Amino acid sequence: MARRPRISRTVPALRRALAPWRDAGDRIALVPTMGALHDGHLALVKLARKKAERVVVSVFVNPAQFAPHEDFATYPRTFDRDLGLLQKLDVDMVWAPGVPDMYPEGFSTAVAPKGPALVGLEDKFRPHFFGGVATVVSKLLIQTGPDFAIFGQKDYQQLQVITRMAADLDITAKIIGAPTVREKDGLAMSSRNVYLSAEERQTAPTLNRVLRDVASKINAGRPVGASVKQGLAIIERAGFKVDYLEARHAQTLEPIASKKAGPIRLLVAAKLGKTRLIDNIGV
Ligand code: PAJ
Repeated sequence: MARRPRISRTVPALRRALAPWRDAGDRIALVPTMGALHDGHLALVKLARKKAERVVVSVFVNPAQFAPHEDFATYPRTFDRDLGLLQKLDVDMVWAPGVPDMYPEGFSTAVAPKGPALVGLEDKFRPHFFGGVATVVSKLLIQTGPDFAIFGQKDYQQLQVITRMAADLDITAKIIGAPTVREKDGLAMSSRNVYLSAEERQTAPTLNRVLRDVASKINAGRPVGASVKQGLAIIERAGFKVDYLEARHAQTLEPIASKKAGPIRLLVAAKLGKTRLIDNIGV
């Protein structure tokens, strides 16, 4: 049985724990999370384990990325269970600061990403979101100083924003994107899936099914715009309230009208009852 991971709760304690590993020449891989871990998170941890001698998983529900009307207070917090899962994967360190450790009184600085953070996808519906993510992820990267930092393609726009931010701020960590882990019926795993009622859970895989349908139509040579429009109608008919279903350039996330103009990523966000789900696939 692997040893229980060490837990650091303050920045000085984290630095004290990491220093000897770094001095010994061990490489460090960081996996940032908000806890409530599922197999999607655990796939990132397994990848981290392959990349580096030391694996640090951060567990921090970041208030800065939630709007006042969103679910910060009720976001699932399952720390003891998370710790057990991370122990099984032989994680070395769990970095679990409290809100006052991350944002002490007087905290007055924010990272304001542009480019892929301002393309009218998540940013249009959650305008506060990428500022909060970029600020906390830059802090996590500065605190930990990892060789690798691993993020999921499930949050595709977030991955592009963080990749751009790390390059722009000369952060040396290599940012790695890992594929989306799905339930057997195609639903992308998410900590928020626990909010779905039994009936909504039956409907939820429609999102991924439609993404795959639209991708195969585009690959068969059908026009991008019309294929997306048909997909949108199917998702709405299934009972979702759609924020967006869009074909975008896979790197810049700018609108794209045909496969000739570059690699396409299809991205969707839609509400089922009170639960907002996102998904994306490459074409
Ligand atoms: P969280 O939603 O906990 O996700 C942590 C990491 O797990 C992210 O990189 C996310 O993309 C990845 N992930 C979630 N579900 C996944 C799935 N089904 N397959 C593969 N990877 C998946 O994303 C955040 O937290 C926060 O915004 C964070 C980056 C930690 C900053 O607070």
